[in-house]
Formats: sequence, structure tokens, C-alpha cells
Amino acid sequence: MYNEIDFDKIDINSEPPAEEPARQYYFMAKCRMWAEDFKQRKGRTPSACVFNMGCQMNARDSEKLTGILEQIGYRMQDSEEADFVIYNTCTVRENANNKVYGRLGYLHGLQKKNPDMLIGLCGCMMQENTVVEKIKRSYSFVNLIFGTHNIFKFAELLFTVLENRSADREEKKKNSMVIDIWESTDMIVEDLPVERKYFFKSGINIMFGCNNFCSYCIVPYVRGRERSRKPEEIIREIQDLVADGVIEVMLLGQNVNSYGKNLKQPISFAELLKEVEKIKGLERIRFMTSHPKDLSDDLIDVMKHSKKICRHLHLPLQSGSSEILKKMNRRYTKEQYLELVNKLRSAMPDLAITTDIIVGFPGETEEDFAETMDVVQRAEYDSAFTFIYSKRTGTPAASMDDQVPEETVKRRFDCLLKEVQEIAAKKAEKSAGTIQKVLIEHMNEQDDSLVTGRMSNNSVVHLPGTSDMIGKIIDVKLTECKGFYYLGEVVTIQPSAL
Ligand code: SAH
Ligand code: SF4
Ligand code: F3S
Repeated sequence: MYNEIDFDKIDINSEPPAEEPARQYYFMAKCRMWAEDFKQRKGRTPSACVFNMGCQMNARDSEKLTGILEQIGYRMQDSEEADFVIYNTCTVRENANNKVYGRLGYLHGLQKKNPDMLIGLCGCMMQENTVVEKIKRSYSFVNLIFGTHNIFKFAELLFTVLENRSADREEKKKNSMVIDIWESTDMIVEDLPVERKYFFKSGINIMFGCNNFCSYCIVPYVRGRERSRKPEEIIREIQDLVADGVIEVMLLGQNVNSYGKNLKQPISFAELLKEVEKIKGLERIRFMTSHPKDLSDDLIDVMKHSKKICRHLHLPLQSGSSEILKKMNRRYTKEQYLELVNKLRSAMPDLAITTDIIVGFPGETEEDFAETMDVVQRAEYDSAFTFIYSKRTGTPAASMDDQVPEETVKRRFDCLLKEVQEIAAKKAEKSAGTIQKVLIEHMNEQDDSLVTGRMSNNSVVHLPGTSDMIGKIIDVKLTECKGFYYLGEVVTIQPSAL
């Protein structure tokens, strides 16, 4: 395991090892020497900030970067006034990209005040050639760019940046930007450091990439082909996490329902869940995302009989029109989707179902939109993320005719949002007055006499409490429903959580 590595035993004067992860530990050891030197020179520890801009996969990648930075000797902070700032970017919609360019100007200002400051960019947006070209052209102060496939190489890349910077300074040259983007990979490097945000819960990658090529989506192009981690590696990681205090895990993949299909010894997602369920000390299991086309009866059965799998399923609809679904390459119809929802609801009446919906996909007519509204009403989602279709260059949908006018999309979007919120609030009201198990996650951000936690169905509850409750599962009476969240009060503390 990474935390048993003794850096003093690594000979940094020898050639770097060829194999991973040993090679990265070698570069971490080298960077540690630099960090020591920084401390001597400046009388303080170097600081770093990893700014996460994307989904749960990105958040997990940020935790990996943080783990490496901490091993090197950086002190992590939330503020961007740091010696090293990394933006872990997302490119799923155009506005995600614009945000990055906007903030780079701000970072440049900070760098002028602190000439030692390094700026790094990584994540999905960096897998796009046009983005990297634009940064090279217009943001030459950026020190490091890497992508989603070689994140494991972070220590090695950082070492190159540090070496380049001292050479640039000696030769009075401008910043030499380090850029390393891979087109794809089938490599999965295990056992690198990772520092999680919460001590009691953690995300775990069970697979990487996506093979579905939904016609609007850029993810398969920036995250590569689907690769599953071996079940024994996943189980080992969860066991280690549990030994370290984790009681809730979130299994992550773009489509967890196709987990294991490409392994030498294939295994299904339902089978993996059964193995995870057996881990002693683990109390809650979550996963995302489930593609409706691959959700098996076996999975429903495993969920139904599990004591640990949370009563929440994120089941992206995208559109309620079979016609649009076909153009989206989702490979299910409106009827198949609704049938699946019925099957899930009859197996688990207390299951919360949430979804993602795109409005304004090319060619979406009023009738298509009405179909979406119909599914929303019938499926009775507990919550839904609604998105305005964003044209992503290189995806099949970007060159489809009939892009929907902006005003029409806006009108449909507002109408959908209102409906989704009304249905969710009505559903939430039904649980008011019940007693629920709540995992307390943090102090309330607005009121420090309150703590905030999540129910099995992922609903948020605020209740009077103290910081010693954080990380424990507690019985809470839901005293009031506030639409999107509940107010509650403690019933008793579970002996298992003490
Ligand atoms: N793998 C997951 C989702 C990944 S992206 C899945 O299949 O559900 C998260 C969400 O972003 C998607 O579910 C979709 O609703 C939305 N999304 C993806 N591409 C988009 C685009 N071009 N425009 C608008 N929303 C998009
Ligand atoms: Fe994108 Fe579809 Fe893959 Fe999800 S399943 S990441 S929406 S291509
Ligand atoms: Fe964004 Fe990449 Fe996730 S594009 S949604 S950060 S996989």
C-alpha cells in the first residue's frame, strides 16, 4: 500500500524505474527534495489548491492529485492564492469550458504577485486539441497541462515542471509549458496515493471511460474506451478504506451496469455488488451512473435484498421521446424506460429515482417535449438534473440539422424545471414525520448549531447537532419537509456507529 512507502529508501540518484507505480514514487521522492528546499528558502511549506470543476469521476481524480501533492509535502488549501493551483476541468457542456478561460485571467493576476506560483490544467477539457492550442496561444503563463489518461504520471510531470522552471530562470527564458496528453490508454495504475475529502465516505472508480457514444456526449472522446478494474483490486481498496474509517462507498463509472464485461474473467455489476456487500464494517453502498439499457433484473434483485445498498438510483432519461432517444443513440424507448421504472418501484417501493434530462436536442418538437413531460409525471422523480442541450464539436449531434432556437429551448427548460420541482416537493412531503437513518456529513454551512446529513435515498437533512456526530449514522425524525431538504431531530445514536 502507498502509505507504507518509505521515501528514504528510494535512491533518487539512480535512474528512474521503468515500472509503475514505482516510477511515480521515485519522482515523488525527487519532488520531496524540492519541497524541503522550498521550506528552507522561504521558511514555510509550499501550498497547493486543486479546484474541481467536473463530475464525481473528476472529484475522485482530484483526490488522487491531492494524495500525491501531500506525499510531496504540499499543504492543501481551498483558496487559489497558493504556490500551485490546478484546475481539474470538465467539458461536458460549453459553459464548463468558458468558466475555465474566465478564471485563468484571475490566476494570471495571482501569479504576477507570486512569481513562484505554478498553474496546472488537467481533466476532460484538456483532451481536446483545440483547447490545448488556445491555451498555448493565449495563456502562455500556464506551466503544466495533462489529460485524463495519464493522471497517474502527475509526480513525474510536476518534477519536469520544477526542473524546467529552474532552467528557464537560469537561461532567462520564458515559461516552458509542459504538455502531456495521451490519445487513449488501456493502462490502469493501482496503488498510488489518494487523499479523500471525507474520512467516512469515499468514491471508488470501478471502471474508466465509456463505449456508449450517446450522440450529444463528449465523454467517450475525452475519457476513452471502457476499462474495468479487477474485482479483487476494488474489494482490496474498499477493505483498506473501511479499515481507515470509511462506512459509505460510491462506486463510480460512466455506466456501472456494463462493469466487468471486458475483463479476462468477466463478472457482472450485480456480482461485484454482492462481493462488496460482504465487506465487514461497510454500512452503505452507492453507485452511479446506471444506463437504463443495461440495467439487469439481477441488479434489481441484488438491490432489493441488500441491507447496504442505498435506496437511490440515478437513472438518466435524457428524453421522453422515443424518436429523440433514437437520435441520441440511447438504445431504449420511452416504453422500455417506463417499464423499468415500474419494475424498480414494485421491487423497492421506497427507492428514490433521480435522473438527467436534456432539453433542446436537435430536432426536438413540441410533441417530443410533451413526451418528456409525460415521463417526468409518470416516473415521479425524486429529483432531476435538467440541462439545456449544448453542442459539442466532434459529436454526431453537433452536425445534425434542426438545432432548436434558443427561446424555444429556454421556454421548455423553464416549464420542465417547474414540473420537476413540484413533483419532487410533493414526493418529499410524504416522508415528513418518519424516522430515517442519516449519515451526518458536515456542520451546516449557514448555522453552526446544525449538522447536515444524507438519508439512504440521498435526501439532505439538517438537524441540531455537534461535530462529534460527523461520520455517524443516526436515527433522525424528519420534523419538516422544506421541498428540497428536511429539518429533523435526533432519535437515538446507533450502537454500531459509536
Ligand atoms: N454517464 C452518465 C452521464 C455523464 S454526463 C450517463 O450516461 O448518464 C452527465 C449528464 O450531462 C448526462 O446525463 C447528460 O444529461 C448531460 N449531458 C451530456 N452531454 C450533454 C450535452 N452535450 N448537452 C447537455 N447536457 C449534456
Ligand atoms: Fe455520455 Fe452516454 Fe457515455 Fe453517459 S453513457 S458518458 S451520456 S456517452
Ligand atoms: Fe465532465 Fe469529464 Fe465528468 S467531461 S462530466 S468531468 S467525465
